[in-house]
Amino acid sequence: MNIVLLGAPGAGKGTQAKILSDKLSLPIISTGNIIRDALKSGSELGEKAKSFVDAGRLLPDNIVIDIVKERLDQPDCENGFILDGFPRTIPQAEALDMLDITIDRVIDIEVDDEEIISRMSGRRICEKCGNSYHLIYNKPNVDGVCNTCAGALIQRKDDHPDTVKERLRVYHNETEPLKLYYKKQDKLIIIEGHGDIQEISKKVISALEV
Ligand code: AP5
Repeated sequence: MNIVLLGAPGAGKGTQAKILSDKLSLPIISTGNIIRDALKSGSELGEKAKSFVDAGRLLPDNIVIDIVKERLDQPDCENGFILDGFPRTIPQAEALDMLDITIDRVIDIEVDDEEIISRMSGRRICEKCGNSYHLIYNKPNVDGVCNTCAGALIQRKDDHPDTVKERLRVYHNETEPLKLYYKKQDKLIIIEGHGDIQEISKKVISALEV
């Protein structure tokens, strides 16, 4: 099954992608993680991406579309995949439609802006494997240490409240129109994203009928 996860920054796409990936044994393609890895390694992509990510803006469509095309060509995507954070604009969705791949379901996780801002301030990320935690809602077993790989947990630079506000503005202007785009294709499933993480994941799995 080929799945797209839509939603505002901090709506829980990454959290739900991980749970779904474990359940369905599908790879996660997170453009945010690919870009963050490039920033860490200082590659050419990382150099180009830095100013956009730090300002809470989207990278130019052509750059991200090329990254995703290349990733979807890898053999582990043959039996399905979970796209987390792509597409984010209408041109990105149109580029995906041009490929010889059918998107089966688009899960939109809906959370209001106020809750998003509170979630982002408590988010901590493993600097080694990228796993996501929250200081209140999704605590690691040991403070400051990743449950999976024992890496150190850090705060993302773009989780600063002012940057989060800009990311939300960009989301409402550029990404939210994708809901109508996929509704017209009869692929959109809206999931109410407030409440317990495991309960939300049950709703996602039941909506996917897997
Ligand atoms: P990206 O990493 O994709 O950022 P994002 O969409 O803003 O997504 P996040 O990772 O912030 O949120 P999430 O929904 O995954 O939330 P999470 O599960 O962690 O992209 C980063 C940047 O890269 C972009 O700003 C842009 O510059 C660039 N970029 C990426 N893709 C691009 C594209 N396609 N085109 C152009 N540029 C692109 O949850 C958040 C927190 O809440 C966590 O702490 C979590 O533990 C907690 N939480 C989760 N669920 C719940 C719950 N139910 N209740 C309470 N807390 C919860």
